[in-house]
Amino acid sequence: MTKINRKTGDNNPMLLFEDAFLQVKNEIEKALTGSPLIIREYLSHLTLSQGKYIRAFSVLTASLNADRMVADDAVKAAAAIEVLHLASLVHDDIIDDSELRRGSITLQKQYGKKTAVICGDYLLSLALRMLSGINEKEDYKSLRFPDYVGRLCLGELNQHINNHNLDLSLYTYLKIISGKTAALFEAAFFAGAVTGKKTEKEVESYKKIGHCIGMIFQLSDDCLDFDTTMLEAQKPVQSDYDNGVITLPLIHALHNDVSFKSHAQKGNLTRKEVDEAVRKSDGLGFTRIMINRYYSKAMKAIKMLSIENNAVAEVIALLDKAARFDQKKKA
Ligand code: FPP
Ligand code: MG
Repeated sequence: MTKINRKTGDNNPMLLFEDAFLQVKNEIEKALTGSPLIIREYLSHLTLSQGKYIRAFSVLTASLNADRMVADDAVKAAAAIEVLHLASLVHDDIIDDSELRRGSITLQKQYGKKTAVICGDYLLSLALRMLSGINEKEDYKSLRFPDYVGRLCLGELNQHINNHNLDLSLYTYLKIISGKTAALFEAAFFAGAVTGKKTEKEVESYKKIGHCIGMIFQLSDDCLDFDTTMLEAQKPVQSDYDNGVITLPLIHALHNDVSFKSHAQKGNLTRKEVDEAVRKSDGLGFTRIMINRYYSKAMKAIKMLSIENNAVAEVIALLDKAARFDQKKKA
């Protein structure tokens, strides 16, 4: 089997997973708080609330070698992907007019939408700079980062175009979340596998796993909008429908209840009516079935990883976290 760039040189030192994870967090914090004075206050605001760093964790997990070590390039890719994610959240909060993110007031609420747009753009430049620091230039090129950024934007645009579309199909909904969320998870697992010098076959498996985990994350997040409190989610809930965003639990209700759909087409539904229709059609149960499908697909790809790959258990733990099997078993 082909091995790509198996050796890492002195310019790409190896670190223990835990140290690498800390280094990712430090590099991001340093980049935000040490940014040029003119933007420093705004970017420092983002450090008040810590995210879960799941995408960075994914890069490092896919990069692990048999000694639980990762190369410095994995740290660079993890920091870049996490900062790109942050950029997309800053922009998303403008689009959704959200006031709360990760338990803190959003940049757009605190400093205004224009400032937030520019800060999101600046964060994107920061992500690009971090990624260009990758030592192994062949790996850097093979990551096809611009393609993933493009997919992220097109997913979000597709969601916007379909705002308030009560005829939204399952296919288009899946295409939207595949772009806006799963693309970045795929990029994270891909970057981890490439910087971890996995075989070409394993790289392909990691990409599939990343895609499935991303789909599961968004499907679960769309369920949370219906069945969690703001305190639990640390961000607004029951807000997707109010923002015109039609998600799978509601799509299922619209497909299954003709009278509800015709009532919806006549004008504004109340939140209570939306919740009631989703409950009656078991929209959350249906979404959970989809989650289970992506879970099985991911498990199939995980089984393709080599037996000696000791990161398998950690990849399964990430998958379970995405599906929130530890918190909520719905189907
Ligand atoms: C959160 O979705 C948003 C995303 C997953 C992606 C947003 C992408 C963009 C705004 C375009 C790309 C931007 C850049 C800078 C390249 P959500 O609103 O469903 O989740 P939430 O409840 O966490 O807000
Ligand atoms: Mg949002």
